[in-house]
Amino acid sequence: MVEVLTAEVPPLAEGEVRVSVTYCGVCGTDLHMLRLAEHVGLVLGHEIAGVVAEVGPGVAGGWRIGERVAVLPMAECGQCDACRDGGGVCFAGLMQGPGQGRQGGFADSVALPSQMLVRVPDGLSDVAAAIAEPLAVAVRAVNRSTARPDDAVCVLGAGPIGCMTVVALQARSFRNVLVVEPNAARAETARSLGVTTCSSGEAADVAERVLGRQPRVVIDCTGHPSGGELGISLLPQSGHLVVVGATRAPVTADFWSVTIKELTVTGSLAYSRKDFDEALDDLASGRIPVQRIVTSIRPLDEANAVMQELSSERASEIKVLLRP
Ligand SMILES: NC(=O)c1ccc[n+]([C@@H]2O[C@H](COP(=O)([O-])OP(=O)(O)OC[C@H]3O[C@@H](n4cnc5c(N)ncnc54)[C@H](O)[C@@H]3O)[C@@H](O)[C@H]2O)c1
Ligand SMILES: [Zn+2]
Ligand SMILES: [Zn+2]
Repeated sequence: MVEVLTAEVPPLAEGEVRVSVTYCGVCGTDLHMLRLAEHVGLVLGHEIAGVVAEVGPGVAGGWRIGERVAVLPMAECGQCDACRDGGGVCFAGLMQGPGQGRQGGFADSVALPSQMLVRVPDGLSDVAAAIAEPLAVAVRAVNRSTARPDDAVCVLGAGPIGCMTVVALQARSFRNVLVVEPNAARAETARSLGVTTCSSGEAADVAERVLGRQPRVVIDCTGHPSGGELGISLLPQSGHLVVVGATRAPVTADFWSVTIKELTVTGSLAYSRKDFDEALDDLASGRIPVQRIVTSIRPLDEANAVMQELSSERASEIKVLLRP
């Protein structure tokens, strides 16, 4: 479980900025971390919006107290191929993020290296800034898919990541989107975003009927071992499967079809700085229905109850923000 405690605020280290947290979103990753004993003592939370409260020694970037920030929860190492390439994802950097490799944002304030801070444009609300991180996951998945707006796209899974993927597609003018979701409450949530949904068994038939053809791109946001297999079965010749949902369970997949249909299978992990900036641009442009995505805002004191509720099969929330 999580406990809300009173703790000393440690002094800032070289290069760190203290961010007073306005909102911090609860993510499936937080729920997963909660189940792992090795994270006892860690403050969770990486979907952070806040205000600069204190600037530590040796901080570059001209940060001033009172500036509003979103947090790119990644300490890019600058050395790896991904960092040098610019558009890649620095895995070591991700592991150093708040709520993962350092104390996170389910707190009144959080100390962060200044490189993790991104200025929030005027006119973009703090609530919107708090969903930049999960939206960036979806933006990367769409970008990795090479899909074009006139393509038919199928999103597997209507959890928070699937729903973010839907709105990222809609913001890019995709109109032929079908969501496959077996859980009725989750499916209804996806329909509130204006897409058609169906169950896994109906997917092939409904795709033909609703999209008018097989989807050229499938984005698997299920995290379920059956997602990849379903995606491969739905795709036509030269189709593209993007795997966002992570599962360590062994997967059975029809690789005969991968060859015969010349499919492309691509993983998509988190985001690069470029994807994060693109997500902020999407939010700033008003193309993302923030009020539909943020389904509730709860006090930080209720963190434990919120996390229990979100762990339930019936949870139909898309994004819950905690407010310290
Ligand atoms: N690649 C990344 O960077 C990244 C980032 C964040 C989360 N994730 C992963 O993405 C996955 C989705 O995250 P989430 O928070 O939305 O999870 P979630 O578990 O809340 O949602 C997954 C949804 O998929 C549905 N589902 C299960 N099997 C299905 C099937 N065969 N067909 C269609 N739908 C099916 C479930 O009913 C559920 O609603 C998780 O595995 C998570 O770990 C990956
Ligand atoms: Zn997250
Ligand atoms: Zn790196």
